[in-house]
Amino acid sequence: MPGSSTLVGVHPRYRWEQPPTCGTVETMPPRDVVTQGSAPSTAIAASAVEVAKEYGAGDTAVHALRGVSIDFPAGEFTAIMGPSGSGKSTLMHCLAGLDTPSAGTVRIGDTDLTGLGDKAMTELRRDRIGFVFQSFNLVPTLTARENITLPCDIAGRDVDQQWMDTVVSRLGLAARLEHRPSELSGGQQQRVACARALVGRPAIIFGDEPTGNLDSRSSAEVMSILRAATDEFGQTVVIVTHDPRAASFADRVVFLADGQIVNELRDPDADGVFEVMRHLDDNGVVNGSADGDSRSGALADEDQ
Ligand SMILES: Nc1ncnc2c1ncn2[C@@H]1O[C@H](COP(=O)(O)OP(=O)(O)OP(=O)(O)O)[C@@H](O)[C@H]1O
Ligand SMILES: [Mg+2]
Repeated sequence: MPGSSTLVGVHPRYRWEQPPTCGTVETMPPRDVVTQGSAPSTAIAASAVEVAKEYGAGDTAVHALRGVSIDFPAGEFTAIMGPSGSGKSTLMHCLAGLDTPSAGTVRIGDTDLTGLGDKAMTELRRDRIGFVFQSFNLVPTLTARENITLPCDIAGRDVDQQWMDTVVSRLGLAARLEHRPSELSGGQQQRVACARALVGRPAIIFGDEPTGNLDSRSSAEVMSILRAATDEFGQTVVIVTHDPRAASFADRVVFLADGQIVNELRDPDADGVFEVMRHLDDNGVVNGSADGDSRSGALADEDQ
């Protein structure tokens, strides 16, 4: 793939060569793992049913989402891709209870977010969701360490020091923990935001372009630790990314265009993702093919 050399050596199924030092942590499930029925494979961590979102009204209304239905199975890593303005952030915000759909239903586990009161919504976000914002949203007056532990501190939960140490060291933040965000580079701030979402080990982590400001090495570290969150801790991860190499760490890639899901790839590799993106225009039309699914499948097969 053109320009794909920066992550050479990092396979999509990248694993730590050494097992993490937090041996006791490895066996612990994420908090509040949600199961529906007895079979773990059918557990749904989050779902959207016919979710629509409009901003404004009348002629000037923006239809950011036009009836999106999708399940996020527990323990699975999903990447959402699509052109700028296609509705990726809007979907993530609706899923995480940070924005309210104009129509449709969103569930976290089996909790329907529609009509959830402010207090219940705040508790659900605090206890079950980690979020890496596109704009980081760090608290400027707190140090990196304090930002990372903030969700646990607010909830009155102990920080798992072994897991904190592992996350901080994997993300290269050990020497920057006592600095405030203004004293950190953009990439360091982004890694602090990732660490904050990871440290409390929530059942589901949403990341809006969590590698958007990172160089290829840092990007690989963030993706591999998110991968470990699913593989080793059973957490569910959903990220938005524009980077096919980052997306290739996921179990599947879902493509949005003009507020609709238009395609999906399972077990993606960077070349396959790149090809689908290349053929996707802003209106969700897969150029040169009327059948986006069969095309992406063929591309994926060719790349195997
Ligand atoms: N608060 C808002 N008021 C009006 N329109 C909005 C608002 N937020 C988003 N939009 C519009 O909704 C559409 C989807 O926006 P969204 O932020 O979800 O896109 P995105 O896919 O995340 O794009 P990007 O890749 O650039 O981050 C865009 O047309 C955007 O301009
Ligand atoms: Mg966005």
